[in-house]
Amino acid sequence: MIPLSLAQIARVTGGQLCHGDPDAVVSGEVVIDSRRAGPNGLFAAVAGERSDGHDFAAAAVAAGATAVLATRPVTVPSVLVADVPAALAALARSVVDALPAVRIAGITGSSGKTSTKDLAAQLVERLGPTIAPAGSYNNEFGHPLTVLRADAATRYLVLELSARGIGHIAYLCRVAPPRYGVVLNVGHAHAGEFGGLDQVARAKGELAEALPADGVAILNADDPRVLAMAERTEARVVTFSSAPGSDAPVRAVDIRLDDLGRPGFTLLTPEGSAPVSLRLHGAHNVPNALAAAALARELGMDLDGIADGLGAAVARSRWRMEVHQRPDGVTVINDAYNANPESVRAAIDALAHLAQGGRAFAILGHMAELGGTSRASHEDIGEYAARIGDSGLAGLIAVGEEAAPLLDGARRVRSWTGEALAAPDGAAALELLANRLKPSDVVLVKASRAAHLEGVAAALEGEAGQ
Ligand SMILES: Nc1ncnc2c1ncn2[C@@H]1O[C@H](COP(=O)(O)OP(=O)(O)OP(=O)(O)O)[C@@H](O)[C@H]1O
Ligand SMILES: [Mg+2]
Repeated sequence: MIPLSLAQIARVTGGQLCHGDPDAVVSGEVVIDSRRAGPNGLFAAVAGERSDGHDFAAAAVAAGATAVLATRPVTVPSVLVADVPAALAALARSVVDALPAVRIAGITGSSGKTSTKDLAAQLVERLGPTIAPAGSYNNEFGHPLTVLRADAATRYLVLELSARGIGHIAYLCRVAPPRYGVVLNVGHAHAGEFGGLDQVARAKGELAEALPADGVAILNADDPRVLAMAERTEARVVTFSSAPGSDAPVRAVDIRLDDLGRPGFTLLTPEGSAPVSLRLHGAHNVPNALAAAALARELGMDLDGIADGLGAAVARSRWRMEVHQRPDGVTVINDAYNANPESVRAAIDALAHLAQGGRAFAILGHMAELGGTSRASHEDIGEYAARIGDSGLAGLIAVGEEAAPLLDGARRVRSWTGEALAAPDGAAALELLANRLKPSDVVLVKASRAAHLEGVAAALEGEAGQ
């Protein structure tokens, strides 16, 4: 962070300095996890479900933090504020305002934000010092904490913006006003909370609305709800597409997948074309790569640099389409990070591709936060799984009661010869699979975050030795 005195922090946050030297300076990291507090940092105490950060205020200062941002008195140097996220937002905004040369990009969409952010960051880092969040640091805590890592050396901020309701993205855009905005797609993630896809589009489009006239809105031409956001922005619009026949300026043609489901394609831009081979798995990473390419291009990267950078980029965040080949010939796709209807379809497509020549199994948990359409969505996904490839999945294992409608959907497909299996938990799912798996089978593991199926995937990966 750029160095700020406690007096400055109190002023910016409207807080009250307690037990502290007003001239003491915070120049280290701002954290909300006291175990990560370090020299000259600032520890923001948050009351969570299980523990209250205020109880760790003294430990954070002992670990080197200059002070604590707190909502109730603590015995160590602190700035008392009414609301910690609001204080972090104010601090982040003051840092952004102090660094006018930093170019800020925001990425949103229902699926693929982290994947695209990680790709984009690996391109933009080639242009200059870049700050991008780790994982999905994309909400009212993660967003300002990421921005606060910027300092005088920083040239680019590549940020992931999430929304669970109307106004959330507008808020994040006020914390760090982006000049470049990427919208990937409008899908069913959190659609229940939003009240339908049109509301999701309204919320994601707040990024387009927040862009200035000299900014750039990078929109997915293949998603009509995203393309319609062109009407909602003053910024110049640049579209990307992986659909055949599109005239979007940034697009992918000749898309193909290798044996492990890694896409290759020809990247077309107004400057020419270049071959790209991704190290990431799944066709859904093509639009993500195009979005990253369009952003890097706007930031001045040339076509060869973009193609080279995309080919070198690796998966930085865990449990998203990790493909693991076991010594016994079984392949495990660990996509356990999260799930919504679009991302489960994308993962089933990848499963079908990898299982050519073998059998496909899926261990699926429930997709959370779909609201009234939840049962129907689960049934539709089950049906989709039963129809893939020539004969559908060899086995669909639904983990937990809420995932059971997946099986009802699969059974709707009369011609399906696979097994529909219910497992109360991950351990039971592993047991069901254990005496069924044969060499050259492929297993997908996927569910919403709350299901924590990454443990199941790890167990599968570890089986039969490494
Ligand atoms: N463009 C895409 N279209 C559909 N599904 C995608 C796309 N990109 C990624 N996915 C799927 O979504 C899962 C989550 O990807 P990622 O973490 O990049 O999304 P996210 O938008 O950051 O999610 P979150 O809202 O949880 O932060 C991946 O495991 C993959 O299965
Ligand atoms: Mg994410």
